[in-house]
Amino acid sequence: MDIYTLGIESSCDETSAAIVKNGREVLSNVIHSQIDIHEQFGGVVPEIASRNHVDAISKVVQEALKIAGIPMERIDNIACTYGPGLVGALLVGVSYAKGLSYSLNKPLIPTNHIHGHIAANYISHKDLEPPFLCLVISGGHTHLVHIKNYTEFEILGKTRDDAVGEAFDKVARVIGLGYPGGPKVDKLAKEGKPNIELPKTKFDNLDFSFSGIKTAVINLHHKNPEVNKADLCSSFEKVVTEELIENTLKAAKKLKINKIALAGGVSSNTYIRCEFLKLQEKGYKIYYPEPVLCTDNAAMIASSGYYQSLEGKYADLSLNAVPNLKIND
Ligand code: KG4
Ligand code: ZN
Repeated sequence: MDIYTLGIESSCDETSAAIVKNGREVLSNVIHSQIDIHEQFGGVVPEIASRNHVDAISKVVQEALKIAGIPMERIDNIACTYGPGLVGALLVGVSYAKGLSYSLNKPLIPTNHIHGHIAANYISHKDLEPPFLCLVISGGHTHLVHIKNYTEFEILGKTRDDAVGEAFDKVARVIGLGYPGGPKVDKLAKEGKPNIELPKTKFDNLDFSFSGIKTAVINLHHKNPEVNKADLCSSFEKVVTEELIENTLKAAKKLKINKIALAGGVSSNTYIRCEFLKLQEKGYKIYYPEPVLCTDNAAMIASSGYYQSLEGKYADLSLNAVPNLKIND
């Protein structure tokens, strides 16, 4: 029998609800973005984000049901992000999902936002099944993960300082491109050449570091504001991508895995995608979600929640938001 999962996501500045059938087929994925509101502050203001989630959540859920053509009673279970993220923002989605779960008597699935980003790949690639490697690159996270099965994850490496998206956003802000910086750096880099030398960090293990590269770009710009911004963006992307690819390949060789997936907001970066795709010539299979599923959305939460529900991993009404939730918690 078909299983319909309602996904709810509110961990940062997107309020989203989705209906996903059998974990992989998206019937609706409504995303209400607050980017316009936070843009004037140069980043997400947590209190403002929470208030806007409260305003949007009910409308977004109703809209998702309407687009899917599914009555609320037909939903089998409710998956909601309970961490990691901004505590006030998370609480809006968690509280709403708990209310629905109680009033409709439907099971509640506590879903990890990062597992959601990884699961976005199941929606875009119907044939993808664990085991595989996943590079999760977003505004808050940079993790190289071994996906052993649908609910078992091993972290192989992570950033010791800035997340990749954070570095993109900071570089963009300092050189005057605005917020959110990732897509703006992506666009401008296409007009430049990677002709500026930047330092690359290397560790003995599979960890990453991006604050040195970021600071070098910022210092170059401050010392000489005439330095071509497009060249700076292009050089920054090149060094960051080299670091991402080097560690991913080291892990792939060590574990003898040839399936590599990208996930998270930064995985919509066109240069990063292009460079990873080149690995196909070396026999690797490369996966990434379509752009709308890379950034925060509820369809990925519903997909991850569905696989968790197959193992009976539900929550009761004592579920709380966990802002620092880890991949393996
Ligand atoms: O996954 P996401 O929506 O939120 C988190 O869970 O963090 O990722 C947002 C991040 C931001 O840092 C944004 O600048 C970055 O993803 N991003 C990009 C691109 N699109 C979004 N970074 C580089 N290139 C892009 N095209
Ligand atoms: Zn995210």
